[in-house]
Parts: sequence; structure tokens; C-alpha cells
Amino acid sequence: MRKPYIAGNWKMNLTPSEGAKLAKELVSELKGVDVKVMIAPSFVCLPAVIAAVKGSNIIVAAQNVSDKESGAYTGEVSCQMLKDIGVNDVIIGHSERRTYYGETDEWINKKVLFALSQGMNIDLCIGETLKQRQSGELEQVLSRQIKVGLEGVAASDMSRITFAYEPVWAIGTGMTATADDADNAHAYIRKLIGSLYGKDVAENAIIQYGGSVKPSNAKELLARENIDGALIGGASLTAEKFVPIVKCALE
Ligand code: PGA
Repeated sequence: MRKPYIAGNWKMNLTPSEGAKLAKELVSELKGVDVKVMIAPSFVCLPAVIAAVKGSNIIVAAQNVSDKESGAYTGEVSCQMLKDIGVNDVIIGHSERRTYYGETDEWINKKVLFALSQGMNIDLCIGETLKQRQSGELEQVLSRQIKVGLEGVAASDMSRITFAYEPVWAIGTGMTATADDADNAHAYIRKLIGSLYGKDVAENAIIQYGGSVKPSNAKELLARENIDGALIGGASLTAEKFVPIVKCALE
């Protein structure tokens, strides 16, 4: 049985004080709710948010990390820096990083391998653009992102990787994949993981759906067999929207 995993990607939103306020609301409203919950604030918000969730089960993650250990890499943040402040989880390969900052599958793979070597847990984002979907390349794109992204990752490390299937055309657009479309893509991803790592790893893999998830569509998506959670952008910025989505995962 896969435990539901709901994550909030705050992107470049909320100041440290706003983030701490939201985090405190989440702690109080999610007390006793048996769902794995993660929030990913910006780097500068991390200390304030970590302090705000102290004593709760809410995981605080980074939205990105360097593939390098340390050195002359202006503007980058290392695994060691994150771990020093208590962050052990990181989102890697978000489509906004791929699109706006030129992250390739090969670069994402370096980040994955380095973060794993540093003992971190990863939320690995994959997903196709509208053009790729319309031209029938969905499986080819997912297969490349997964095979290259995971190159060199041992089966024993796979329990530290969560997958987030986020069709690029559904992110922040209000367009959600239908539950059938999402479930089919998730089934394909699971099959692919199985072909690379065997049935057990595939059965245990947590695959989140992301792209315009909101309280009104979360229930239908999360009810599908292969959808084990969600990675939420816009609707993770208020407790009013995020909390009901987390609670949908219980049903
Ligand atoms: P959205 O973003 O929920 O605002 O569509 C999802 C994501 O990018 O993780």
C-alpha cells in the first residue's frame, strides 16, 4: 500500500514572514492528518519555515539544488548547505527549471546522483509539453526523462525518489489532465520503472500528479489507482486551498 504524498511547491512566492505564517497555519490544520506532506519554499524562506513547522511531520524541501559540492558557482546552493539547516528533500527537474533555466535531462541526472550521494530525498519532475503530447510523443518524452534522469541510480536508492508527473501544459494554466489521462501516464511511468528496476520498486514508487490541482479536482485525481499524491503550485499558497487537497488524500 502506497502512502499518499501531497507536496506544495511555493515557487517564487511568499516572503519569509508570509511563508512562516502559512506554515504555522498548516501545522495547526493538519495536526493528526495521516498524509505525508511536504512544502517547498524559496531558499531564503527555508529557515523561517523550518522553525514554523518544528515538532510537526511536515517536510520542508528545497525547490532546486546544485549538482556541485562547493566552489565558485555564483548563485548556487549546495546539498551540504541545505542539510546544515535541516533540509533533506529537494525538487529536481521542475519544468520551469527545464524551460527557463535550460536544465537538460543530463544535468538533472547529475543533480539526482549528487543529491542521492549526499543522502537526500528527491521529488523528480517529468512531463510533456502540449506540442509533444499532440504529436504523439508522450511515452517517448517520459521514457527519455526517466531513463536519462535516473542513469546510474541504484535500485536500493529508488525508495528515496518520488516522481511528479506534471504535463507542462497543465501547470499554472487552469487546464488539468483528465483523471484518465493522468492515470494512463502514471501507469506508463510505473511500467517503465518496472522495466528498469523490477516489479517491487515499481509497485512501491510514489507518483504524484501536478498541474492545476485544486480542491475541486483533487479527489477525482487522487482516487485513481496509479496517482499516489500531488505536487501543487498555485493552490499550495493558502491553507484554505491546500488543506482540503491534503484531506482528499485520506478518502
Ligand atoms: P500549479 O503548479 O499547481 O500551479 O499548476 C504545479 C507545479 O508546477 O508543481
